[in-house]
Amino acid sequence: MIGLLALGWIMVQLDYFSPYYESAPALHYSLGILVFFLVLIKIIWQLAKPLPEHDDRLKTYELYASKIVHSILLLFMIIMPVSGYLVITAGSNDANFFGLFDLPTLFVVSKQVRDAATLFHTYFPFILVGFIVVHILAAIKHRFIDKMKTARDMWPK
Ligand code: HEM
Ligand code: HEM
Repeated sequence: MIGLLALGWIMVQLDYFSPYYESAPALHYSLGILVFFLVLIKIIWQLAKPLPEHDDRLKTYELYASKIVHSILLLFMIIMPVSGYLVITAGSNDANFFGLFDLPTLFVVSKQVRDAATLFHTYFPFILVGFIVVHILAAIKHRFIDKMKTARDMWPK
């Protein structure tokens, strides 16, 4: 997600003469679609195998704050690729998935929906970055100051 944010901002600033004018967006679309499928797998995985218990030293407000921020991050991990996909497929669709196949246009959407998707995809990243910064600072605090086991729990055993 962090890579896609950076790539998104870099690619919209490239001019026609840049050697990455075509390859940067192509990579952005492919990685974005990949994220979407990985998130779907993650959600199914999580339904089958719930997340580990939280460290019991976590204060109640920290527990709820983390649940809210995690849910928002997860929501963005769906909204970003879906809005990007709608921007692409509602216009002249020339995107494909790592050169393997063209992205099919699954939904025919109105101009209003396309405009809304473009608006989301352009401005939501700023909100997302804010939540990611809070999330990373909290992870660093819990790991290095409070010495909690949360970060290590993410590693497969
Ligand atoms: C999955 C996570 C994704 C993230 C975090 C992300 C992030 C971004 C960012 C930060 C920009 C620059 C916005 C601007 O300043 O205009 C951007 C632009 C763009 N992205 Fe994505 N993107 C994602 C997925 C996708 C996907 C899956 C597609 C299409 C299949 C896509 C298509 C586009 C297009 C067409 C633009 C340029 C037009 C616009 O700004 O709306 N993105 N993206
Ligand atoms: C350097 C970057 C990052 C670090 C160090 C980090 C660290 C962590 C840690 C330690 C947890 C576990 C928290 C717990 O068990 O209570 C977690 C969970 C989570 N993180 Fe991150 N994170 C990072 C970036 C991101 C980004 C960019 C996103 C999405 C945009 C994200 C989304 C999530 C979500 C949704 C969870 C909830 C648990 C889950 O659904 O699996 N993280 N993160």
